[in-house]
Amino acid sequence: MSDIALTIDGVDKIYQRRGKPPVHAVKALDMAVGKGEIVALLGSSGCGKTSTLRMIAGFEAVTHGSISLAGRRIEHLPPAGRNVAMAFEGYSLYPPLTVRDNIAFALKSSRMSAEDIARSIGEVAALVEIEKILDRYPSSISGGQQQRASLARALVRRADLYLLDEPMGQLEPQLRAVLRGRLKNLLVERGMTSIFVTHDQTEANALADRIAVMEGGVLQQFASQKALKERPANLFVATFIGEPPMNVFDARIENGDRLRFAVAGGPTLDFAAADLPQAVRAAIGQRSEAVIGVRPHAVRLGAGPHEARIVSNQWLGDQSHLALEVAGKLLVAVSHAAVAARPGETLRYALNAADLHVFDAGSGAAVSHGTEAA
Ligand SMILES: Nc1ncnc2c1ncn2[C@@H]1O[C@H](COP(=O)(O)OP(=O)(O)OP(=O)(O)O)[C@@H](O)[C@H]1O
Ligand SMILES: [Mg+2]
Repeated sequence: MSDIALTIDGVDKIYQRRGKPPVHAVKALDMAVGKGEIVALLGSSGCGKTSTLRMIAGFEAVTHGSISLAGRRIEHLPPAGRNVAMAFEGYSLYPPLTVRDNIAFALKSSRMSAEDIARSIGEVAALVEIEKILDRYPSSISGGQQQRASLARALVRRADLYLLDEPMGQLEPQLRAVLRGRLKNLLVERGMTSIFVTHDQTEANALADRIAVMEGGVLQQFASQKALKERPANLFVATFIGEPPMNVFDARIENGDRLRFAVAGGPTLDFAAADLPQAVRAAIGQRSEAVIGVRPHAVRLGAGPHEARIVSNQWLGDQSHLALEVAGKLLVAVSHAAVAARPGETLRYALNAADLHVFDAGSGAAVSHGTEAA
């Protein structure tokens, strides 16, 4: 990336709690976000997303490490000195102020004229559809309206960075989809560098240039949607990203002129070793066991060397999701055509060796993706 806006370098957050063990919420976080880049922070509840945003904005101190924004170190500065706009998970609107004044408050130090302030509020209120409640107080509006007011208060500012903590989590799906499109246009048009937290992969895919996947306080992978799907760095990312997520099985590796993955009680998959690049052969060949993964979309249904009993077959309107009983587990397959087979019947299928992802059985780190080394 040519132009970096935000650099997070070796950042840890350890919460000290009286009479209880400390919580290591964020661990050795390194991240660089480009100017104008839109980043999604994705991960399960408690993985450290809010802690990360609050440290960048200055509402939590970093325990170790440094943060630079727009060319200057900021981790020691108070929130007001960082030029970061944040929409909080709990909205944090000021109860004694109307929605309009809450938004205007964010502009009070900007030296804008009264007309410019009024115009900016009008624009952002239209964007998030809160024009009709501008004169109401936070206690008299719904959670979804408070959330939009809080989002408007962050977006109205001219800041070096926008941090949006689950900015649309409370909204109903239709409005959410519309707002998502408008938000994307605004961020792109104005080149607003932003990090937003979401639990929704569709939202992350639709809005973000890159997605940061966190788990247990550790950044697991920071990459494009395509790279997360095609080249997941480890088993966590492989089974977290993708709907439905990747199927994984423990396999024994038999090496020879064929490289063979044998799943106990399940299929055996093999490559002609000569077809694999040396780096892949070297990486896989040292092991006697591995975890192998295959995306549901890569399971070929209807023909092939393997056979399995159908556990469920659901047509979702534009695709079928099938669960097959394989090696005592479920192998989930997605087909874009309807599959005329009922639960209890058997179905033939094929797994292409080139679609296999191989992971280290101990660490879960990716070893190879198809015929490419990880
Ligand atoms: N002030 C605090 N004191 C002690 N522990 C805290 C504090 N704030 C957060 N934690 C703990 O730190 C960890 C990370 O919390 P954080 O709020 O950053 O997670 P999150 O990814 O935002 O989760 P969610 O998706 O539920 O919002 C959790 O174990 C949480 O309980
Ligand atoms: Mg949170």
